[in-house]
Amino acid sequence: MEKKQRESWGSRLGFIMAAAGSAVGLGNIWRFPYMAGTNGGSAFIIIYLAFALIIGISVMIGEFAIGRRTQLAAVGAYKAINKNWTFAGVLGVISAFFIMGFYPVVGGWASAYILKSFTGLLSNPAAIGDAFGAFITSAVEPSIWLIIFLAANIIIVAKGVSGGIEKAGKILMPTLFGLLILIAIRSVTLEGAGGGLEFLFKPDFSEVTGQTLLAALGQAFFSLSLGMGCMMTYGSYLNKSENLPSNALIVTLLDTGVALLAGIAIFPALFAFGVEPAVGAGLVFVVVPQIFAQMGTLGIIFSALFFIALTVAALTSSVSLLEVVVAYLMDQRGWERKKSVYAAGGVMAILSVLSSLSMGVMSGFTVLGVGIFDFFDILTDKIFLAIGGMLLAIFIGWFVKREDLEDELTNGGTIKFGLFNAWYALMKYVIPLAVLVVAVMGILSIEQTGLMIFGLAVIAVLALFSKKL
Ligand code: PFF
Repeated sequence: MEKKQRESWGSRLGFIMAAAGSAVGLGNIWRFPYMAGTNGGSAFIIIYLAFALIIGISVMIGEFAIGRRTQLAAVGAYKAINKNWTFAGVLGVISAFFIMGFYPVVGGWASAYILKSFTGLLSNPAAIGDAFGAFITSAVEPSIWLIIFLAANIIIVAKGVSGGIEKAGKILMPTLFGLLILIAIRSVTLEGAGGGLEFLFKPDFSEVTGQTLLAALGQAFFSLSLGMGCMMTYGSYLNKSENLPSNALIVTLLDTGVALLAGIAIFPALFAFGVEPAVGAGLVFVVVPQIFAQMGTLGIIFSALFFIALTVAALTSSVSLLEVVVAYLMDQRGWERKKSVYAAGGVMAILSVLSSLSMGVMSGFTVLGVGIFDFFDILTDKIFLAIGGMLLAIFIGWFVKREDLEDELTNGGTIKFGLFNAWYALMKYVIPLAVLVVAVMGILSIEQTGLMIFGLAVIAVLALFSKKL
């Protein structure tokens, strides 16, 4: 079979913007602040940073290396090295489908809130919480918004790697940084903002529990787009002359930087207005508009800017999730890009509409004890990503030739990777063990036992039939 020239990134900056775009998403701006808020603030943040900077970077280097080595996306990459491991790639594709079964719903909410900022959302601060509840439980409006959000994904990914994904990242990512910095400056200059900064930067480790550690590791993984072959897929489009470890370092620093920036944008304002930090998952959609509602016309502008930033961040992440599936269909099934995008996007649209409806009209319908939205969310966040990350570390440490890894990470000996031995030991011993402990703790802490057993059974069945996949 004639081999087609593989698509590749147009430039180094383009790749970094795309990879950072994948990493920076709802996980940083929506999830991170509320996780920090409900887990006591500063101590959680420091632990999360440590996990991201040690485990996260290492796993990302591993994903980049396997992707570029094999020039294949997740499934093909595992398969090319060891057929018994094909299932780990397939698990990644399933995770991508499942995350895209709920992520566009929240992306749609964010898009809707850009418009809502201008159409009276902020005029009655006391009603913002109820308005959010009414909006997400209605049948038609959120579905329309999620379809618009998904359509944007489909257009970008259909244009291909350098034409679509890379261009979008290059324009949208700097826009996001700029907006967040602007909002952060506004936030810290409010009267009474000091309490928020203290909450963010003055740690109290006495409050740290096993749950805090678990939450912090999970957050680091989700936020860096690891554990499902996404960075592997992006690595497969990467030029042979790029320095993988330094790229992983830059992407990780950008990702953690944006999370911190989101914290600085939100908490000082929260404290300035006397809002409780541990409000939970409604933080962004309920509390942020409430904060801005107290600032008059300027607040409307800031609110719209904030939700533009959130939409942009969600979009550059969701295109990477769609790309994982599309690359699989192209690499393994030989499909054309456009056909792959429309087929995958169509399935995702159906899953997401069901997820959205599960907030309201279909709330009585449950799968293994949870609604459809929660089914996709819990299954991926709490089971598939953690196990996917652990599998990758075991695969690298025990099933890939050490020389091959060294060759890939030093570009055939032409550049230096001084920390190779330390990285290899981390991947081989420390990370599998650490993630195993965390995964077990995580899975044990899930209340939905049926869902947990289902998730593990899916992985076991995949592993059993790995050679046939
Ligand atoms: N990292 C994204 C976020 O923080 O929102 C979510 C994500 C994207 C997870 C891509 C996994 C992935 F493969």
